Amino acid sequence: MSAIAIDGPAGAGKSTIAKLLAKQLGYVYVDTGAMYRAMAVYFSQNDINPDDENAINGAVDNIDISIEYKDGVQQVILNGENVTSLLRTEETGKMASKTSKYAAVRTKLVALQRGLAKKTDVIMDGRDIGTIVLPDAFAKIYLTASSDARAKRRYDELKEKGENCSFDAIKEDIEKRDYEDMHRAISPLKQADDAVLVDTSDMNIEQVVAALSKIIDEKK
Ligand code: C5P
Repeated sequence: MSAIAIDGPAGAGKSTIAKLLAKQLGYVYVDTGAMYRAMAVYFSQNDINPDDENAINGAVDNIDISIEYKDGVQQVILNGENVTSLLRTEETGKMASKTSKYAAVRTKLVALQRGLAKKTDVIMDGRDIGTIVLPDAFAKIYLTASSDARAKRRYDELKEKGENCSFDAIKEDIEKRDYEDMHRAISPLKQADDAVLVDTSDMNIEQVVAALSKIIDEKK
C-alpha cells in the first residue's frame, strides 16, 4: 500500500488540500484530527476532567472508535454512534488539543490509523503522521502558513457562515493550539526530516494543490 503524509499546524488547509488530492489520486483521505476530536466528545459528554490523566486513562478503556466511509466521506463512529457532525466545534477542538497529549489516547488512535493504512492507499493528515504514524510514507509534506494568514482564513470562513467572531481571538486561539501541539512530550508537531515544507501564506487552493501534486509525482 502507498501512503502520503501531510502534517502541519491548525488551519494550514491540510484537510481541504488532502481531500482534493485524494480524489485526484484515487486514494482514501484519512482525517486523524477527527479521531482526537471524537475522543474529546466522549470526554466532554462524560464530564472527564482533561487535566486528570488517571481519569482519561480509565475513560480510554471504555472508548471504541472506528472509521467508515459514506459516499467517500469519512465518518467517525464512537461506541456505535456516528459523531461526525459533532466534531468541528471550537469547544471540541480545544478539548482534543488538551487531551491529545496523553499516551493512552495516542496509542489507541495511532493503532487505528496504521490499521487503515495497511488496508488501502491513504493520504493521511494530522500532526505526527510523517514522524510517528507512517514513517515509511513515500511522500511527506509539512504544510504551514503564518498565524495571520491562518487566522484570516478562519475569520473569513466564520464570517461567511454569518457567525460573529473576532480576528484577534481567533489568532490567539491558533497560536495557543500551535504551542500546545509543538511542545507536548509525546509526538509533538514537527516537520519530519524527509518532509517537504510548503508555506501556503501567499498561495490559493489551486496553487497549493498544484505544488503538492508536483511533489508527490516527483516522489513516485
Ligand atoms: O486537525 P484538528 O484541528 O482536527 O486536530 C484537533 C487536535 O487533535 C489538534 O489540535 C491536536 O492536538 C490533535 N491531533 C494530534 N495528532 C494528530 C491529529 C490531531 O495530536 N495526528
